[in-house]
Amino acid sequence: MLNEIGEILFNEREIDMKVRELAAALTEDYRDKNPVFVGILKGSFVFMADLVRRIETDCEVAFMSVSSYGSGVESSGRITIRKDLEMDVEGRHIVFVEDIIDSGMTLAYLMRYVANRNAATVKVCSFLDKPSRRKIKLVPDYRGYEIPDAFVVGYGLDYNEKYRNLPYVGILKPEAYLNR
Ligand code: PRP
Repeated sequence: MLNEIGEILFNEREIDMKVRELAAALTEDYRDKNPVFVGILKGSFVFMADLVRRIETDCEVAFMSVSSYGSGVESSGRITIRKDLEMDVEGRHIVFVEDIIDSGMTLAYLMRYVANRNAATVKVCSFLDKPSRRKIKLVPDYRGYEIPDAFVVGYGLDYNEKYRNLPYVGILKPEAYLNR
């Protein structure tokens, strides 16, 4: 029901511009380091696909899937790994790729997790960032757009698994998720 989208926050052109900027910075910083871009499923899959196609140095791609148990949209900080990395990260340069950082709990956990497995470096690249929702200190090393505390969907982000396929980032109308 596309009429649940109230406003387009970032259109395809704005997304493409930002992806190119981030990829250029990453290419510069990771040249000849063969970094591993680790996408956190599911939300990151669209951004990940766009981002790595703009990276102009050797790199690898991996995915993890985690679940956090909590009430509704709030993440509780109790995180379980559903799909682990299938590689040895020791000595590797890891860049987590996220669609959005909210409380920061998911990434804080994952960064600890790979640091404990002796990764050489661990950084974060997030397309969107909602710093107003942070429960833990976490600043992404590479950030696309900082956004206000609105319910955003599209470009990988969902509401009840819908809208991940939208080519833009939109704000969901409050009536779509309130009083349900
Ligand atoms: C979203 C997003 C991050 C996490 C951020 O995933 O993709 O992984 O929440 O929240 P946090 O900073 O509060 O930990 P979600 O759990 O909605 O799963 P999905 O990616 O499968 O939609």
